[in-house]
Amino acid sequence: MEKILLTGANGQIGTVLTTELRKIYGVEHVIASDITEPANNDGPFCFLDILNKQRLQEQVKDLKITQIYHLAAILSASGEWNPLKTWDVNLNGLLSILDLAKEGLIKKIFFPSTIAVFGKTTPRIQTAQDVPLQPTTVYGMSKATGENWCNYYNKRYGVDVRSVRYPGIIGHQSIPSGGTTDYAVEIYHSAIAGEEYRCFLDKDTRLPMMYMDDAVRATIELMEAPEENIKIRIGYNLAAMSFTPEEIYNAIVKHYPDFKIVYAPDFRQEIAESWSESIDDSSARKDWNWKHAFDLEKMTADMINNLSKK
Ligand code: NAD
Ligand code: SER
Repeated sequence: MEKILLTGANGQIGTVLTTELRKIYGVEHVIASDITEPANNDGPFCFLDILNKQRLQEQVKDLKITQIYHLAAILSASGEWNPLKTWDVNLNGLLSILDLAKEGLIKKIFFPSTIAVFGKTTPRIQTAQDVPLQPTTVYGMSKATGENWCNYYNKRYGVDVRSVRYPGIIGHQSIPSGGTTDYAVEIYHSAIAGEEYRCFLDKDTRLPMMYMDDAVRATIELMEAPEENIKIRIGYNLAAMSFTPEEIYNAIVKHYPDFKIVYAPDFRQEIAESWSESIDDSSARKDWNWKHAFDLEKMTADMINNLSKK
């Protein structure tokens, strides 16, 4: 029976992924971990700083962990405030986990990469799988390097590590923090609270995005796909929709006609402009049958329905 450890499980994606994995594998077989207190006690949790390699190894041995979903990271905007710490957390945490697999202590790893690996030399429209990567943020640098280490451990030591380049993730279940795509969650909360939204990106800044339900399903489908189907060991491009702040505002205003937005771009504008506008994810669709379910309209209806119940 599989025993799964999630690092960074209290974050925006980890909160939702932990719940979904527990539905599949059983509550006691999915251990959440983080450096912060969990918001609720709905399953096993341990404190684990990913930089503490010894404790990581002890937990993996003691709990008989077979798979790790390694979500712990410092994201694009927060990362710029402390570049060396971000490099340390985002890269050295991954290397410790790859070593555990190399030593045969775990069988499978999930490593979330990101559209932040792209940079100003990357074609921005329908960005292909194999493109020049010259990221401008330390977050993007750490994830691009992490992808290469995953590929290296797979080719050299046979480590079964799987990865996707998530677009910006939007969900009603949890709150994002420290990212450049966070505006696309904040805007729904403002609309429902009846407040004007002050957007930190400019109105025409187009970015790839994905609804949380699709992102979590993609993650689990990738991890459950037969090993022979996984042809790419850097991050698979993954896509669902692309929109601008003005387009998401227009989608929301259909539900809340009095909703107002103002644009006040800050340092995150430059980060967003260095990323792709849209993604070609045909390899994920071909290799492990990826299909998204949510577009902007369907996501907006679901976000509003769920958030207004809270
Ligand atoms: P998040 O910032 O919400 O959560 C990250 C978690 O990592 C936090 O709970 C934090 O406490 C924890 N953490 C930070 N330092 C740690 C350390 N030293 N040891 C252990 N835990 C530590 O991030 P998220 O949005 O849930 O993203 C999860 C993963 O997905 C990240 O690796 C991120 O790079 C990737 N990703 C996210 C998005 C997105 O839009 N949310 C997009 C692309 C990729
Ligand atoms: N959503 C993430 C961020 O904005 C992309 O990895 O940092």
